Amino acid sequence: MRSKLLIRSGKYEDAHCLAALATQVWLHTYATDGITAEIAAYVISELTPGNYSSVLGDPSCHVFVAQNGNSLVGFSVIKFNTRGPVDSNSSVELQTLYVQENFIGHGVGTLLLRAAEAKARQRSNGALWLTVNAKNARAIAFYARHGYTMIGTTYFALGEGRHENHVLVGPNA
Ligand SMILES: CC(C)(COP(=O)(O)OP(=O)(O)OC[C@H]1O[C@@H](n2cnc3c(N)ncnc32)[C@H](O)[C@@H]1OP(=O)(O)O)[C@@H](O)C(=O)NCCC(=O)NCCS
Repeated sequence: MRSKLLIRSGKYEDAHCLAALATQVWLHTYATDGITAEIAAYVISELTPGNYSSVLGDPSCHVFVAQNGNSLVGFSVIKFNTRGPVDSNSSVELQTLYVQENFIGHGVGTLLLRAAEAKARQRSNGALWLTVNAKNARAIAFYARHGYTMIGTTYFALGEGRHENHVLVGPNA
C-alpha cells in the first residue's frame, strides 16, 4: 500500500470513480472467458455513473469507499430493509464488496466489510445477507473466514444464462 488507507462514506463526487472501479473489478472477476454481448450490455447499462449517483443519494443505501491517496481502491454498498431470497434474520443486504486486484490481500476487503457491518448494527442486528457466485472461490473463502454461512442458492440472470449464486448470512443472523 503506497499511502495511508482511508475508509469513508461515499459522496456524490465518487460516482464516476465507482462506475470505473466496479467495471474493472466486475470484468476481472466474471468475464474470465472474454467479453460477450451480454456482458458488455450489462456493464455498460448497469455499472454507470448515473446508477451510482442514485445509490449514493438513496437513503436506504450506504456506500463505503477505500481511498488510497487520491484514488479509490475498493467500495462496499449495503441496502437496508431488504429480505433475501432465503429467509433469515437479516434485513440488510451487502450488495457490493469490490477491491481492485492490485490491492487484494492487504486487508481492504475486511475493513470495508467491517464498516458495512457496523453501519448495519446502527439500524438492525448487524447481520448482513449477500449472494456470491458459486464459482467465486476466493470471495466464498473470504466470507467463510468472516463467519458467513451458506443458507441457500439463487440465480443471477445475464442474457440467456443463469448463474448459480450462494446465499450467505453473517454472524448474528
Ligand atoms: C473478496 C474480496 C472483497 C476480498 O478483499 P481483500 O481486500 O482481498 O480481503 P482481505 O485482504 O481483507 O483478506 C484477504 C486475505 O488477506 C489477508 N490480509 C488481511 N489483512 C492483511 C494485511 N494487512 N496485510 C496482508 N494481508 C492481509 C487476510 O488474512 C486474508 O488472507 P487469508 O486468505 O490467508 O485469510 C476481494 O477478493 C474482491 O474484491 N474480489 C473481487 C470482487 C468480488 O469477488 N467481490 C465479492 C463478490 S460477492
